[in-house]
Parts: sequence; structure tokens; C-alpha cells
Amino acid sequence: MAQETATILYNTRISGTYCKIGLTCAPQYASAAAGQFVTLKIRGRMDPLLRRPFSIHRRIKERNQVVGLEILYRVVGGFTGQLAEMVKNEPIDLLGPLGRGFTISPDCKKPALIAGGIGVAPIVCLAESLDENGIDLSGAPVFLGGRTRADILCETDFGQLGMRRHITTEDGSYGQKGLVTEPFTGWLKTHKPDIIYACGPHGLLRAVSGIAREHGIPCEISIETVMACGLGVCMGCAVKTRDSGEGYRHVCKDGPVFDAAIVTF
Ligand SMILES: Cc1cc2nc3c(=O)[nH]c(=O)nc-3n(C[C@H](O)[C@H](O)[C@H](O)COP(=O)(O)OP(=O)(O)OC[C@H]3O[C@@H](n4cnc5c(N)ncnc54)[C@H](O)[C@@H]3O)c2cc1C
Ligand code: FES
Repeated sequence: MAQETATILYNTRISGTYCKIGLTCAPQYASAAAGQFVTLKIRGRMDPLLRRPFSIHRRIKERNQVVGLEILYRVVGGFTGQLAEMVKNEPIDLLGPLGRGFTISPDCKKPALIAGGIGVAPIVCLAESLDENGIDLSGAPVFLGGRTRADILCETDFGQLGMRRHITTEDGSYGQKGLVTEPFTGWLKTHKPDIIYACGPHGLLRAVSGIAREHGIPCEISIETVMACGLGVCMGCAVKTRDSGEGYRHVCKDGPVFDAAIVTF
């Protein structure tokens, strides 16, 4: 983990309220796992006081060396609003990589990926990591869900890896109308992945965890909670789990990625 003053390489609005920012970063991000996150703070600003967490969306490479990281973010409030106004070459305080990411087992051959809305941010990084680990993703499914068409992001990134994309929107403006779990349960009638990876809103993770349990398929989920310290000292990010003595774990330190079987929804 390193705290550093990063430089903004670019900061672009990609659609609606979604933006991508590229930042310089320490060489240790080369070994960061998909699903790990960073926290950001704008230098000299006291409001908001707390650092804000964001998943690593992509590692920016030049000649096979990691020279930066990309964050995909949605403008939802004070911090993200200020972030969207920052420009190339401005400095920003970066802390990371933090937390526990997705595990990639050498036995993994048939993964299924599911993302709801901005939950796609770490799932792109995961797909790239699976590919780097020699896992053949051609024809592998990724289920992308959102409220409306504008919430369906990164489709082409998965397409470039040869993945089969299943799109749903709640309003039917793009892809199949409904919830992302609907085509997923349909697909499971004729396929059995060896692992399910998911990130998205709480309701989606709860549903996917239940489906995985029902079908006896291992499942890892990346959970988002509001965070305060981001370092495991304040209990601001506790989630209820079945395995630990106290019955709670920290999303910032023990997660954000958890074995779905231990999380109590
Ligand atoms: C591990 C982790 C990874 C994350 N990765 C990303 C990412 O890759 N891209 C991205 O856009 N966002 C991500 N988030 C959420 C991001 O941290 C929040 O959107 C951000 O902190 C909002 O700050 P703000 O000051 O703009 O909004 P605020 O003014 O603090 O909040 C605006 C609204 O968003 C809600 N909100 C704030 N934080 C969260 C949260 N964590 N979960 C759900 N609702 C929240 C608030 O309740 C409020 O309604 C992640 C969060 C966690 C914990
Ligand atoms: S945010 Fe403080 S313990 Fe996780």
C-alpha cells in the first residue's frame, strides 16, 4: 500500500453521469488484484473530509509496464462532482491498493461474470486479469444490467475479450427488459460455470449469492458500503458474516470481495 500524490493523465465523461479518470501510480499496482480499490482525496479540500473509495477499473500499460490506473466513476455527490471537474496534470492524493480482490484459481476454466450498473468497474479489471492468467474467455458469459441504456457500460471491453454479452435494462431501453438475474438463471439451465463473480447493488448480490448456493456453484461478490477510514479501524464498513466469531467483517480490509457463502444478507 502506498500513499502518493498522483497526477491526472485524463478525466473524461463517457456518458451521462459516468466518467473515466486515469492516474499515475506507484509500480506496486502491477501486482494489484482485480477487485482491490484505492481511496482518493482532493488536495487542499476539506469538504468532503473523508477519502472516497473506488475500484481499480483497469491498469494502464505502456510496453507491458503498468504506468497508471484507470477509475470508472459515477457522479453522485460532493466528491465525485468535484472529481469530474479536475483536469489533466492536476495532482490528487491516492492511497492503495487496498482490500482483498477476486481470487483466480488455476482450476478456473468456465467463469460467469455479472455486473449491475457501476459494479462493472472491477468486473472489467477481473476479465482482463482472467485473460492475463491464460483463461480462455471466448464465449464466456458476462451479464450486464442497469436501470436504463446509459447504465450499460464497457460492453466493448468484454467484446474485445471474445465474451458473450447478455444485456438487461429495467426499462427495456436496451437488451432484454428486466433484471440481470433473469437471463442468468435462464442460462444456468443449460450451463454450469465453475465460479460466479459479481459486483453491483446489494439486491443483486443477495440474489446472485442465493442462485449460486442453490446450484452449488462457488461465488465471489464485491460489496460496496459507505466507508470512513478505509483501513479497518473504524467499523464504518461492517458486513454481517457467518464465519467470524464476532459475526462481522470489514469490507475495507477483509473485502470488498467475499466468498458469497459467508455473507449474511
Ligand atoms: C470498495 C468500494 C469500491 C467502489 N468503487 C466505485 C467505483 O469504481 N466507481 C464509483 O463510481 N463508485 C465506487 N464506489 C462508490 C463511491 O465510493 C461513492 O460513490 C463515492 O464515495 C460517493 O462520494 P460523493 O461524495 O460523490 O457522494 P456522497 O455525497 O458521499 O453520496 C451521494 C450519494 O451516494 C450514496 N453513496 C455514497 N457512497 C456509497 C457507496 N459506497 N455505496 C452506495 N451508495 C453510496 C450516498 O448514500 C448518497 O446517497 C465504491 C465504493 C466502495 C466501498
Ligand atoms: S471503513 Fe473504517 S473499518 Fe472499514
